[in-house]
Amino acid sequence: MSTSLAGKTGLVTGGAKNLGADIVRAQAAAGISQLAIHYNSASSKGEATKLAAELKQSYPSLQTAFYQADLTTADAVHTLFQNVIKEFGKVDIVINTVGKVLKKPITEISEKEYDEMFAINSKAAFFILKEAAAHVTEGGKIITIVTALLAAFTGFYTSYAGSKAPVEHFTKGVSKELQSKRISVNAVAPGPMDTPFFYPQESPEAVAFHKSNGMGNRLTQTSDIAPLVRFLCTEGQWITGQTIFANGGYTSR
Ligand SMILES: NC(=O)c1ccc[n+]([C@@H]2O[C@H](COP(=O)([O-])OP(=O)(O)OC[C@H]3O[C@@H](n4cnc5c(N)ncnc54)[C@H](OP(=O)(O)O)[C@@H]3O)[C@@H](O)[C@H]2O)c1
Repeated sequence: MSTSLAGKTGLVTGGAKNLGADIVRAQAAAGISQLAIHYNSASSKGEATKLAAELKQSYPSLQTAFYQADLTTADAVHTLFQNVIKEFGKVDIVINTVGKVLKKPITEISEKEYDEMFAINSKAAFFILKEAAAHVTEGGKIITIVTALLAAFTGFYTSYAGSKAPVEHFTKGVSKELQSKRISVNAVAPGPMDTPFFYPQESPEAVAFHKSNGMGNRLTQTSDIAPLVRFLCTEGQWITGQTIFANGGYTSR
């Protein structure tokens, strides 16, 4: 079974920084030939520019293209896929890392916040899966990043875990629909991860608590997750329709 991604074309949404950028690096290290990298906010543009330079230096034969888009409408997701296909002619691997977290008691969550959480964590994921199902080539791979909280029994993350939860069912359904094309479709669920995404809503005590629930008293690192995603794109091709929890024992089911 090949561990190489030579000849493959990948799309990583939210790929300019943090987990997304480490997934990009792992795909590049596995020899992928073409990478489409999406980012959203103006503040991520600088990270996209730095990553582009890094990839050019480390992998001179890798072709890359960067795309800015808010992916909370079906049209925006459609346009992204059209642009990627226009640039590279095909897409074999789609990895969606788009997400937003909110930690609050339900009594404090506004309708606007609810709508935003579901637009980013559910709706964008759904339409990315829809476009991926339409365009990913036979034998391809589709992965969405969800959260360890899908296996947790806790308060305050209702809108976050609740809006990531539908992705499990989207994933299962799409994996069945794509079995005849040998396309695997999975969700990967990291534990609380050491990126700037995690810290703003957590007190020092909460950070210590999250650490204490992981093996070796630490948070998940992006370097724990990127190789797992690469594995699913190579030797792990027989895994489909699953949510893979990778969190050092933080949650289980
Ligand atoms: N860090 C953790 O504790 C943790 C734990 C488990 C799972 N996760 C999940 O892992 C994934 C990556 O998280 P991370 O820690 O690497 O943080 P991150 O870099 O902030 O990832 C979130 C990504 O979503 C993008 N995004 C947000 N709103 C968007 C929108 N409207 N349209 C398109 N893209 C949008 C962000 O882009 P901009 O910043 O440019 O808006 C960013 O690239 C997320 O799905 C997250 O839910 C994180």
